[in-house]
Amino acid sequence: MQARGPLMIEHRLIERMILIIQNALAQIESARKVDPLFVDTAIDFIRTYADRTHHGKEEDILFRNLSSRSLSAEDQGVMKELLEDHVFGRQTTKALVEANTRYRNGDESALADIVIKLQTLVEFYPKHIEKEDKIFFPASRSYFTDEEDQSMLAEFWAFDRKMIHEKYKSVVEVTESKATEGRVKMKQNDRKYLNNMLEMSREAMELVQNKAREDLDRDKQLTLSLLKYLEMIGSAASRISRECQNGCEPIPWGQVTEMKQQVVHTYWDIDLDWIWEKMEKDLPALSKAMEILLS
Ligand SMILES: [Fe+2]
Ligand SMILES: [Fe+2]
Repeated sequence: MQARGPLMIEHRLIERMILIIQNALAQIESARKVDPLFVDTAIDFIRTYADRTHHGKEEDILFRNLSSRSLSAEDQGVMKELLEDHVFGRQTTKALVEANTRYRNGDESALADIVIKLQTLVEFYPKHIEKEDKIFFPASRSYFTDEEDQSMLAEFWAFDRKMIHEKYKSVVEVTESKATEGRVKMKQNDRKYLNNMLEMSREAMELVQNKAREDLDRDKQLTLSLLKYLEMIGSAASRISRECQNGCEPIPWGQVTEMKQQVVHTYWDIDLDWIWEKMEKDLPALSKAMEILLS
């Protein structure tokens, strides 16, 4: 795994919490009230996991190591923006804590502030994450040799040992389950197709364990197997009832069913980066969502 691997895995968990907040916002706005305990949970996740654990690693290890390199003006500029983003995230969370305290103490006018701050976080995090995943992390890799990259990865693991990933993973899972509880209506075959999708996703991810994107250039058998898996997952998804799909919004059903069309109609021209993104990013998130749905 490259050093950026753990950071990108953490991004996926942060995205899941952001989605929970986004879904909760609609309810908060229509009910005109909020459960302060829910806001506490969101604050705790953002402060401890997204900020201390995740931004902590970025700032104390990646950015610190980069500051000793001759960064291009462009990369220097992006790193400065990311640091400013982190500060903005902290300030927004601090204001959210204050608004939640006011609300808990009976000040109903604080509800509007809570909504604005949660909305700000929902808009801020995906943009920040995209900037890192797509622009900054790939660019920063070129400043390190393979050995340096691996030693940074070791530093990340050491940093993480002090943290409590599992706790926050389960916070997200429990909150997600509560959000879908009693909401998902499954028809007779839905569970069967969901189990198929989960099984195929796991098998596909197993094939790329300890592999890198470059392996797809070399190993045609592997590429074809992965394409077949993506086609089958898309095909199973298209058979799931509309009621079940509507009840489980965290799964991007359109994108999942589209995978089949993309593989079948353009397999001779398929982009290997697209396949790799599915393996590295989309299937792990999809599997988690299906595990929760099936639990
Ligand atoms: Fe960041
Ligand atoms: Fe990040």
